[in-house]
Amino acid sequence: MTERTLDGHVSISNLEKVYDDGAERTTAIKDLSFDIEGGEFASIVGPSGCGKSTLLYLVAGFLDETSGSIEVDGDPIDGPGTDRGVVFQDYALFPWRTVMENVTYGLEEQGYTKEERRSRAQKYIDMMDLSGFEDNYPKELSGGMKQRVGLARTLAYDPKILLMDEPFGALDQPLRESLQDQLIDIWGDLDKTVVFVTHDVEEAVYLSDTVMVMTRHPGTKKNVTKVDLDRSQTREAIITSNEFTETKNDVWKSLREETQPEVQP
Ligand SMILES: Nc1ncnc2c1ncn2[C@@H]1O[C@H](COP(=O)(O)OP(=O)(O)O)[C@@H](O)[C@H]1O
Ligand SMILES: [Mg+2]
Repeated sequence: MTERTLDGHVSISNLEKVYDDGAERTTAIKDLSFDIEGGEFASIVGPSGCGKSTLLYLVAGFLDETSGSIEVDGDPIDGPGTDRGVVFQDYALFPWRTVMENVTYGLEEQGYTKEERRSRAQKYIDMMDLSGFEDNYPKELSGGMKQRVGLARTLAYDPKILLMDEPFGALDQPLRESLQDQLIDIWGDLDKTVVFVTHDVEEAVYLSDTVMVMTRHPGTKKNVTKVDLDRSQTREAIITSNEFTETKNDVWKSLREETQPEVQP
């Protein structure tokens, strides 16, 4: 009997990324290998400048690796593609487009009719609790709403893999928490692989099946922690559970060795 595996398997092998502007070479990622199963929720934490965004943008296909490889379901990545959707911290919405026009944007080159684009977009606008704001412009929305538009826009073209770079980093705590819970619900319903970059250990553990800690610059994989939480429970029950507290402490200690190396014995 074979186990059912979802699409969206990301396989990273011996990855290295050197930025080279002619004058200076910066090794941002070195010898990093990491596998993310289809449908898995994996977070990446690490000190500032360790290469988290670089890693995510390599998987997105915005950057080319210097050596090593990244494969999605066995195929090497060759530039950006609609199998992967990126959600940015600063939302990256088009200010001159309404909510509806922002969400339909990713569908415009996919051969849908205008009607189909609008009905697909409406589904994700509704899913992200943005009904009634279809004709508003980004400047008329709160930060939390803007990030929900960003998520709806990415979800609308149905990528197998969601790549999120500190997506809730600019939001205050109550908003972060409500978006975290919305993201868990969506992930549970949509069978997507999520690669989630954050510097917030609690957020990483709360959301993920797997947390990868990166070393300080130049970044590589330090360790991988599996998280086993009963996510049918309330937030309060989860964050007060022993499993949550212990996992969070393990990840936090590991991260702290990288952010404060001078205090290590
Ligand atoms: N375009 C670039 N050119 C040169 N160096 C860069 C560039 N982007 C990032 N870096 C360097 O690569 C390293 C990793 O950066 P980044 O991936 O942004 O880290 P993080 O997201 O973990 O804070 C840092 O040392 C940063 O200064
Ligand atoms: Mg970054």
